[in-house]
Amino acid sequence: MKKLLFLGLFFSMVYACGSGTESTKEKRAETPLGLKIYKRYCVSCHGMYGNMGTSGAFDLTKSTLNMDEKISVITNGRKLMTAFKSILSEEEIKAVANYTEELKVKTSDK
Ligand code: HEC
Repeated sequence: MKKLLFLGLFFSMVYACGSGTESTKEKRAETPLGLKIYKRYCVSCHGMYGNMGTSGAFDLTKSTLNMDEKISVITNGRKLMTAFKSILSEEEIKAVANYTEELKVKTSDK
C-alpha cells in the first residue's frame, strides 16, 4: 500500500515536471505577434515564405508597397484578398504588415 502511494506521488511529480517544461517550451516558442497572425491568416494564400501565390496572391517578397500601402491592402483587401479589418485589430494589422517586410529580407538573403 505504501509502495502504491509512493508510486502515485512519483508519477504526479513526473507529471508536474513534465507540464513545467511544457510551459517553458511554450514560452520559448512564443512568436512575435506579426508571425503568429501571418501563420494563421496569410499562409493559406501567400505561403510560409510569402511567395506561394495561391489564387494569384502577390509574392510578398517582391512587394514594393510601403508600410502605409500594405496596411491599407491588408485592412481593405484587394481583388481576391480578404479584407482583414473585421478580423484583425489595427495593431495586429500593423504587426503583420511589419512581418511581411521580414519575408523580403529572409528570401533576398538566400
Ligand atoms: C484569400 C487569399 C489571401 C489571403 C488569406 C491573404 N492574401 Fe494578401 N493577397 C492576395 C492576393 C490575391 C493579392 C493580390 C491582389 C491584387 O492582385 O490586387 C494579395 C496582395 C497582398 C499584398 C499587396 C502586395 C503588393 O505589393 O501589391 C499584401 C501586402 C498582402 N497581400 C498581405 C497579406 C497579409 C499580411 C495577409 C494576412 C493577414 C494576407 N495578405 C492574406 C491573397 C490573399
